[in-house]
Amino acid sequence: MRQDSFILKGNICYSKTIGHLSTTDHGYLICHNGISRGVYPVLPEKYQNLPIIDYHDMLIIPGMTDLHIHAPQYPFRGLGMDLELLDWLNTHTFPEESRYTDLEYAIKAYKLFTDNLKKSASTRAVVFGTIHTPATSFLMEQLNTTGLKTYVGKVNMDVNCPDNLREKDAQTALDNTDEWLQKNIGKYQNTSPIITPRFAPVCSESLLEGLGKLLKKYQLPVQSHLSENLSEIEWVKKLFPWSSCYGDVYDHYELFGTVSKTVMAHCVYSTDEETELLKENGVYIAHCPQSNINLSSGIAPIRSYLDAGIPVGLGTDMAGGANLSMFRCMADAVGVSKLYWRLVDQEKKPLTIEEVFYLATKGGGSFFGNTGSFEDGYEMDALILDDSGICSTRTLTTKERLERYIYLADEGGKLAGKYTAGTEILLSE
Ligand code: GUN
Ligand code: FE
Repeated sequence: MRQDSFILKGNICYSKTIGHLSTTDHGYLICHNGISRGVYPVLPEKYQNLPIIDYHDMLIIPGMTDLHIHAPQYPFRGLGMDLELLDWLNTHTFPEESRYTDLEYAIKAYKLFTDNLKKSASTRAVVFGTIHTPATSFLMEQLNTTGLKTYVGKVNMDVNCPDNLREKDAQTALDNTDEWLQKNIGKYQNTSPIITPRFAPVCSESLLEGLGKLLKKYQLPVQSHLSENLSEIEWVKKLFPWSSCYGDVYDHYELFGTVSKTVMAHCVYSTDEETELLKENGVYIAHCPQSNINLSSGIAPIRSYLDAGIPVGLGTDMAGGANLSMFRCMADAVGVSKLYWRLVDQEKKPLTIEEVFYLATKGGGSFFGNTGSFEDGYEMDALILDDSGICSTRTLTTKERLERYIYLADEGGKLAGKYTAGTEILLSE
């Protein structure tokens, strides 16, 4: 395993700012003690002694962050994609997740998931588990061994859901979550816990209140879902009549960025008020375009969120999204933004390749700190892309090759190497 201090040589692409892609052909990416020391067209004298790993004509890009993904949903990916959110949850998701009460089943399913996430283009991920503590603890242990950097949430849900996937009451849910936190905080090098109310409709007010207290006690990040589907939003209004918007429910219990960093998936229908709250509180949005399509949720107005200065990253939302590919996720983000522009609001320009590349790398990566770029001081997460199988009669620039890889990764693209914080992830293991 290659670790710590070395140089990667190849055709290097990365973002510093959202609209701009930096490329250096046959360049040198310096990694010192797991930290990037920048990209150079000519090897600086002071780094001459470091070993060079030469990837020849391949592309080298920063690792990508899947900012929203459900590990237990991996076994039924690709099923039920003709349903909308609430029916899909009841028909496929909840029955599958209830199986994780059986640790043997969870072990089998989570091994499959973690093996495949390891081989994917994600170097970091923010992950939902289920309500089950033994299964979720196993998921953490397993993810830690992959070398990927992850946050993992034991899900909380105590009302309005099937008996076999409902925590007995708020106190039981909070006790279980606290015990799970005590066992897992600081336990692993690569994996740590994140507070996870599933979404407001399946959480009682006592549960949300208690989670807010746990958050303060342990100072952990938060993940949940927000304004994904119109029926869901109506439901939230009925359940929390005092709330001024869906986000206000989380905010009321200090689960919305005021205490610690927070990521909300979707935000397809956030009102002006909710958008303002997201912005004020610095809450991240995990944009999951494939899920928005598959579950007929709608199109999240990402251009508006970017204009407002809200931090945005991309997520697969497995199994709302049917696969783990962040390349597919980027292509879908461009595609749905074009439909939004054409069909909904001509003022909102579609996202560009440079922009979605930024969102997949530095945008979502910033949830973990300085990651997702090769700028000096960033943790060195890198992917080595072999695009020699994506044939063309043209001579392509490095940027064009990256662009085609995003759209054609499945056609002949090969992930030839992967590093997280300077440690090589061995893809063949
Ligand atoms: N809202 C609540 N739970 C879920 C889930 O599992 N997937 C998606 N896409 N939305 C949700
Ligand atoms: Fe989700």
